[in-house]
Amino acid sequence: SKWTRELRYKPYSEWDDEYVVALTNSVASSKWRTGYHIEPKTGLLNDPNGFSFFNGKWQLFFQYYPFGAAHGLKSWYHLESEDLIHWEEKGIALQSDNNYDSHGVYSGSAYPIDEEKLFLFYTGNVRDDNWNRFTFQNGAFMYTDGTIEKFDNPLVNQPEETTDHFRDPQIFRYQNQFYMIIGAQKQSDKTGAIFLYKALSNNIKNWNLIGELTFSRSELGFMIECPTLIFIKEVPVLLFCPQGLSQSIHPYENIYPNMYIIGETFEPTNAAITNATSLQNLDEGFEVYATQAFNAPDGRALSVSWIGLPEISYPTDKEGYQGMLSLVKELTLHNGKLKQYPVDETKSLRQIEHIFHRSLDTKTNRFELELTIPKNEIVELKLFSNADETRYLAFTLDSVNGKVSVDREFAGERFGEEYGFKREAFVTKKEEMKINLFADTSVFECFVNEGERVISGRVFPDESQTFVYLHSKIDLSGKLWRLNNQK
Ligand code: FRU
Repeated sequence: SKWTRELRYKPYSEWDDEYVVALTNSVASSKWRTGYHIEPKTGLLNDPNGFSFFNGKWQLFFQYYPFGAAHGLKSWYHLESEDLIHWEEKGIALQSDNNYDSHGVYSGSAYPIDEEKLFLFYTGNVRDDNWNRFTFQNGAFMYTDGTIEKFDNPLVNQPEETTDHFRDPQIFRYQNQFYMIIGAQKQSDKTGAIFLYKALSNNIKNWNLIGELTFSRSELGFMIECPTLIFIKEVPVLLFCPQGLSQSIHPYENIYPNMYIIGETFEPTNAAITNATSLQNLDEGFEVYATQAFNAPDGRALSVSWIGLPEISYPTDKEGYQGMLSLVKELTLHNGKLKQYPVDETKSLRQIEHIFHRSLDTKTNRFELELTIPKNEIVELKLFSNADETRYLAFTLDSVNGKVSVDREFAGERFGEEYGFKREAFVTKKEEMKINLFADTSVFECFVNEGERVISGRVFPDESQTFVYLHSKIDLSGKLWRLNNQK
């Protein structure tokens, strides 16, 4: 492809306006632009960063490369919201500009220090002339007017125990102390790990390594990216991306998985999460990655995911953009099981309710669909379908076996073929099954039984594919709301 290293790391200031105008127009005219999901205006979006509440508003950033669908010189792009639904684009907040972040402002987190300052904790990616990598964990303050002040020196350097794959610090508070976890590859055996730090004297400029966080006896691939620890009613829940995880530890089909464990206790002095469950997929679909969560001041545990994956090409690449963020999800525990469900605020997008039986032309492909399958039924649901049902995204909802299958082989322009077109998720068999599915032009997020399982993915249909079809032996009806985020 045209994306040589030189081009990907070309300074932002050297791209001319004409190029950017043409790129902006190309992206804006794509038939796959969504209505209520966050996408970059141009270029590539990957991980969510710095999800927090500050200055009376929700703050969210994402990994951003503006000049095309490539993993180039990364920045943090800033968004702000009053309701977790409507996001105001604030522009680039953190950009490469010194010896500690010259080759990218990589992922990280945020924490409000006081009314005036939001602390941003990020990885500075640096390369030397021979392209050797160096990694620094840097800090900055964002003030209420949006201005940024980077700290002069890194807060943490790469420790001897790890290779240069050491990144994505997440700051959190536990028993009135600041802690940080960070993804790593161990020097000794080149396997993935998470390291735990504590802020000395509770000062975010002063970090001490406690040690490697123990939470699993399995070997966790070759690198762990984007670890994020939250507490749901005091129970520690750790989300992380173990690259190269053996599929014998837990099956997954995407290039890299986003997984989680639920622990019993968090013991910072021993760097341990005790009695953790085995690894589980956070999403059973095609492309959730780098999910970031935090404990919000209103008591909720909130998460947002990148709907995209590293090292995959998407049909939008040729139009000059790639990647989007998921809806904001609330994480809860029910009988020791994790549920993920779009925040309540998402209901504010609903327009009038439609009841459908066999089919409906959604016209826009921007809707929420709700369907309850009685126990012991098998139902076929097609979305993004054309009128003659030859192109569609197919769901089989099988409450006999407690199984949801999705097939995107005929959903439109194909991509990621190597990783297969089908995914499956399981819930209790011989029980009623409830589906809430959010569709938005070229993405779906399907929540089974109020978020017991989540199946997310991208699809790239053509303009004729706006129908919903329901095939069932019994007379079944579902609800559908068109979703609109215009204020
Ligand atoms: C995960 C990741 C992070 C890194 C960032 C760079 O997708 O590779 O580990 O900080 O993306 O954009």
